[in-house]
Amino acid sequence: MPPLLIGRDSIIEDFEEGIDDGPGAPGRLMRVTGARGVGKTVMLTEFGRIARAHRWEVIDETASNGLAQRLLERLSPTKPAVSLSLKPSVSVAGLGGVSLGEASISSQQMPLTLREALGSRLDGLERKHAGLLITIDEAQAADRNDMIAIATAVQHLIREERDMAFVFAGLPTIASKWLNDDVLTFLRRAQAEQLGDVPLEDVHDALQDTFDDSGITLAGQALDMAVKATEGYPFMIQLVGYHVWRIAYRRQRDVEGIRTVSEDDARQGIDNALTRLGDAVHGPEMDGLSPIDKTYLLAMAQDDGPSSTSAVAKRMGKSLNYANIYRTRLIDAQVIRDMGYGKVDFAIPYLRRYLREHAAYIRMRR
Ligand SMILES: Nc1ncnc2c1ncn2[C@@H]1O[C@H](COP(=O)(O)OP(=O)(O)OP(=O)(O)O)[C@@H](O)[C@H]1O
Ligand SMILES: [Mg+2]
Repeated sequence: MPPLLIGRDSIIEDFEEGIDDGPGAPGRLMRVTGARGVGKTVMLTEFGRIARAHRWEVIDETASNGLAQRLLERLSPTKPAVSLSLKPSVSVAGLGGVSLGEASISSQQMPLTLREALGSRLDGLERKHAGLLITIDEAQAADRNDMIAIATAVQHLIREERDMAFVFAGLPTIASKWLNDDVLTFLRRAQAEQLGDVPLEDVHDALQDTFDDSGITLAGQALDMAVKATEGYPFMIQLVGYHVWRIAYRRQRDVEGIRTVSEDDARQGIDNALTRLGDAVHGPEMDGLSPIDKTYLLAMAQDDGPSSTSAVAKRMGKSLNYANIYRTRLIDAQVIRDMGYGKVDFAIPYLRRYLREHAAYIRMRR
């Protein structure tokens, strides 16, 4: 968790109101979307903290293979989950069965089984006037059967006005992946919270205060450099804050009295932060893209500012229609953004610089 959650007051309020207002409140069914590093996981952690402070139970899961089964096991850890279902069937590879030790729960049974497990857990909690929060992170990566099982179960319980909240978070691609799925219309009704960049004034105040609290002054030109370097991107706020602090601290470890961040400290700290940003954000983002997506980005990176889509197509040696397929994909994934008038620009801070520095490597691996 960052030392200070910057610029997220309104979404936190929405969630907290949802808990306070009781079953049926919109904040109890929420989807949180945003680009990599924008703070989705941190938000789920904060929701968990708030829910626990209300004496709620919290189950947090990350979508990956076996999600529904893991959820089931966490809901009924003592009984073998299979006893809850009517007819355990033997798992047959390829038929969508979820293996559970010897027996399995088929994808047809899973929604009902989950619903029963959730229901009985809620019985216990509601007797103590407590509720249940379930959060699913990286929802864009969930298996469709898992998502159907969970959505179906939660939908019934919410309709029955049980004391629960359900929040799922993921990359903006969940919109095209799950919300267009007819079976999952329920998820479309979730309150949408799109996380974006944090205003620089908020970054300014937060950095200043956090440094002050640690006994090192960050002010003047050094503060301005640090604030500007973050571009309001939450992950970069964290990195810049940490690395600038570390450089300044090391240089003045033995100083008595007031310590301050010099412009040199700021410069070095920002450099270190940028290196870490490349490893932690740009690299993994590139790994998730197709070779042609990457070609599109490399073609864009030749410009110093927004790129003309026709110039990009020409550099790729492709027609505008062909290039536009990748333009749309990259916009959906929030890697680039539409600037209007046939222009696009990078949506992830410092991605242009990263692509230029790593262009040869990215091409080679293709
Ligand atoms: N509101 C915020 N204020 C300050 N720092 C934040 C905020 N939100 C996130 N951060 C910092 O940004 C970093 C990335 O946050 P987080 O891991 O939640 O992003 P994410 O959206 O889940 O990314 P990914 O899609 O890669 O999982 C964290 O290290 C956190 O410290
Ligand atoms: Mg995350």
